[in-house]
Amino acid sequence: MDHSRISLRPFKASDADDFLKWGGDDRVTRYLRWNSITSKEEALAYIEKVAIPHPWRQSICVDDCSIGYVSVKPESGDYRCKAHVSYALAAEYWGQGIVAEALRRAIPIVFKKFPEVKRLEALVEEENKGSQRVLHKVGFVMEGVLRKYAFCKGDIKDFLIFSFLATAHD
Ligand SMILES: CC(C)(COP(=O)(O)OP(=O)(O)OC[C@H]1O[C@@H](n2cnc3c(N)ncnc32)[C@H](O)[C@@H]1OP(=O)(O)O)[C@@H](O)C(=O)NCCC(=O)NCCS
Repeated sequence: MDHSRISLRPFKASDADDFLKWGGDDRVTRYLRWNSITSKEEALAYIEKVAIPHPWRQSICVDDCSIGYVSVKPESGDYRCKAHVSYALAAEYWGQGIVAEALRRAIPIVFKKFPEVKRLEALVEEENKGSQRVLHKVGFVMEGVLRKYAFCKGDIKDFLIFSFLATAHD
């Protein structure tokens, strides 16, 4: 994949069909907090109620067609120095460095957009080796294991916690 075909941009209602293709795939949503969507109506509702109002959720596109997302959500109050990072990609595009490239592009943009944020944080299930590898490649540091930390798809899981500091980017 020629990475010049990849772009990040906000979601729009017309992405519903493309979003349904990957957002309806259990392989893609397996490690996500939300369940696979099942209809175009659901895809549209998710785009309008979750993706568009989100502080920073971008569609990863190839030739401007949505094939995934990357999101960064700043926290509030005493935690406003950190933001949670999340991402997923259509299974047919896995293993081509696309999410690593999307994160490398996202990092300088979000530190500029949210100047109070000094720490990007990602929580990854212990078994999700592909996601851990992506974070390592981009320069995130693994800080530890959060044991029995949260439910995912009905089971309590151990999570690894990763961070990327603004000082690493400066
Ligand atoms: C995890 C995910 C985002 C990776 O996206 P991607 O574009 O394929 O990632 P990249 O190609 O940039 O890098 C993947 C790396 O993981 C490696 N990898 C993939 N599966 C692996 C596994 N089971 N064990 C070890 N390494 C693995 C790849 O070889 C690659 O490393 P390399 O470049 O050194 O060869 C994608 O698989 C996905 O969307 N998964 C479902 C959603 C998800 O898990 N989101 C993250 C929740 S924390």
